[in-house]
Amino acid sequence: MKGGKRLRILCGELERCALFADVGCDHGYCSEYMLKHGLCREAFISDISAKSLKKAETLLAAYIEAGRVRSAAAAGLDKTDPSAELVLIAGMGGEEIVHILKEGFLPPKLVLQPMKNAEKVRAFLLANGYRLVRDYTFFAEGKFYDLIKAYKEAGAPAYTREMLEFGRDNILSPSEDFCKKLERDIACAETWAENAKEGREALEARIARLKELYDETCRRLSGDR
Ligand SMILES: C[S@@+](CC[C@H](N)C(=O)[O-])C[C@H]1O[C@@H](n2cnc3c(N)ncnc32)[C@H](O)[C@@H]1O
Repeated sequence: MKGGKRLRILCGELERCALFADVGCDHGYCSEYMLKHGLCREAFISDISAKSLKKAETLLAAYIEAGRVRSAAAAGLDKTDPSAELVLIAGMGGEEIVHILKEGFLPPKLVLQPMKNAEKVRAFLLANGYRLVRDYTFFAEGKFYDLIKAYKEAGAPAYTREMLEFGRDNILSPSEDFCKKLERDIACAETWAENAKEGREALEARIARLKELYDETCRRLSGDR
């Protein structure tokens, strides 16, 4: 498929459905993936930027002509067909994602990849009747990303404070990528603390918490790294 590892991981989390919607579709690669692999009958693509949407419309021109892709320049879910069963919102801040869902509708299945504030996305989903079926960190193209897949159904397991902040899968079965992110965060916080003129105590408390988490998860599960 087109795009790098991040998009491959995102697309790997997408599921078969009748109507797939990609909000903030930009290039349109994920809809192309869904259609090409026969994972959806129809796709709805939208982007707040007409210029970005145009890229996806060009890529998916044959599907648009065949009546299998509808498109709209729109903010969030404004024009998205509410019968979409699976909605992808990727590459935006967590607050923006929460805003889009609050202002729009709550689809049965979501695949979300917030660029920051993932904890706000988790809190919103849990407060709105979603079960987070995948909630993990991965590394791609030199960056760490959070991936959250959620179903609107009962039976959400309890989330601890750590799970809310760091992601449930990361706490229960930490991956090498997550542990590398923790190592990086500890190293960054240590550098900040060394150079801090003020706020050093808060940074030291943060470092202690991250180290404790690292010991409880990464070191315990995979031996001393
Ligand atoms: C960084 S790109 C990510 C594109 C693609 N989703 C991906 O993950 O590769 C973010 C896209 O979201 C669009 N966007 C940002 N805020 C939006 C909003 N509130 N509603 C719809 N699209 C938005 C931008 O115009 C841009 O095309």
